[in-house]
Amino acid sequence: MGKSNKNKAGQLENSATNSSWGGRFNEPVDAFVARFTASVDFDQRLAPQDIQGSIAHAKMLEKVGILDSGELTQIIDGLQEIASEISEGRFVWSQALEDVHMNIEAALTERIGIVGKKLHTGRSRNDQVATDIRLWLRDQIDTIKPSISQLQRHIVNLAVAEANTIMPGFTHLQTAQPVTFGHHLLAWNEMLERDFGRLCDCRKRLNQSPLGSAALAGTSYPIDREFTAAELAFSKPSENSLDSVSDRDFAIEFCAFASMLMTHLSRISEELILWASAQFQFIDLPDRFCTGSSIMPQKKNPDVPELVRGKTGRVTGQLISLLTLMKAQPLAYNKDNQEDKEPLFDAVDTVLDCLRAFGDMIPAIQANREAMYGAARKGFSTATDLADYLVCKGIPFRDSHEIVGRAVAYGIANNKDLGEMSLKELQRFSDLIEQDVFDVLTLEGSVAARNHMGGTAPEQVKAAAARALELIRTRN
Ligand code: ARG
Repeated sequence: MGKSNKNKAGQLENSATNSSWGGRFNEPVDAFVARFTASVDFDQRLAPQDIQGSIAHAKMLEKVGILDSGELTQIIDGLQEIASEISEGRFVWSQALEDVHMNIEAALTERIGIVGKKLHTGRSRNDQVATDIRLWLRDQIDTIKPSISQLQRHIVNLAVAEANTIMPGFTHLQTAQPVTFGHHLLAWNEMLERDFGRLCDCRKRLNQSPLGSAALAGTSYPIDREFTAAELAFSKPSENSLDSVSDRDFAIEFCAFASMLMTHLSRISEELILWASAQFQFIDLPDRFCTGSSIMPQKKNPDVPELVRGKTGRVTGQLISLLTLMKAQPLAYNKDNQEDKEPLFDAVDTVLDCLRAFGDMIPAIQANREAMYGAARKGFSTATDLADYLVCKGIPFRDSHEIVGRAVAYGIANNKDLGEMSLKELQRFSDLIEQDVFDVLTLEGSVAARNHMGGTAPEQVKAAAARALELIRTRN
């Protein structure tokens, strides 16, 4: 890096020395360094929270006598005007001013003069940014929470509609036992319920005010941290100033929540993709969630679930970025922390998009009940029921397992499912088998028999769905 500060055209950059910290510098910052260290291109998203935090801080300064009421009014009015300029897209951002905080402060000073310079009393950009990003993430969490609940409601409502629909349940992707589609859907709901809980935990822990920690050690001004914490609806001021300016656990926790949520959405996507295939045909996804192929006229590709599955890797990547960002940082603030924003923003944006896609798609799923039923009839899905039947007749389970295994081998050789065999055929494997065996060999009998909390019986699915809807309605 040369001494001169010229850009490609050879003109002196007016980025010059930043007026917020330029006092001890003898030469202007290198133009490349100015660009390299600036964050305003992305952290301008924090502007509403930055202004909210500044107003709270200014009110506190007035309360403790550092500002007079006239100065406070000027600051609040100025900040509010800047907020409108920003939201209307009229604000001119300057990379030379590095970040969102200094852009807004410079605009305030330009507007109200010397009083603008008093705003930063007893504060540092370190506690400022730590506050802004917590406020921002808290706002985002408050948007994400209802979209998870809405998606859950769609899933549970579909489960109620499909409480009696029989499909094969799988282990190892091999037909295992019949289940109801409603039961399968409620399994998805449980995943999302845990995600919701994780998100609430994250919110709880992030909701402490770092304001007043200043650069790292606190400040010698007689500040009132309880006041700013309450003003910004934080539960309390944070305990330790060193920790407060360097802690980014909340961003990591959010990305951990987001990665888990995306993993669940990805698993659901995988099932939707399989089920929409010509081989399964369990569901139909409306055309608006699919695209065609430019070469194969028959294709209807499930792009939306495929993309959600694909974006999961991206969110998990942001989690790893943040963990890696933090792992070697000594206390307290380091410039590395500026790199926390883009991964966090991207994780939030991706999660919101995917929840929106799912919220639109799930209620539009058409279940193909015949195909599901037909598939459940294949693959000896009631073999366990036959084994349990023999146990009820007094045969030890290991022996009945063996007997049914032979019946299945016979079925494979003769291309017959257990329910399709005659009583005579079944009796070849055990003379304890009687006419009532057909009650358990039917798919309806099989699912109805699993009639306990958490089981697949339609009655249980309806009860579980009612509990789930009540929980979604009452929790927060
Ligand atoms: N733009 C910075 C960030 O995002 C703000 C804090 C800068 N603090 C400092 N001491 N340079 O982290």
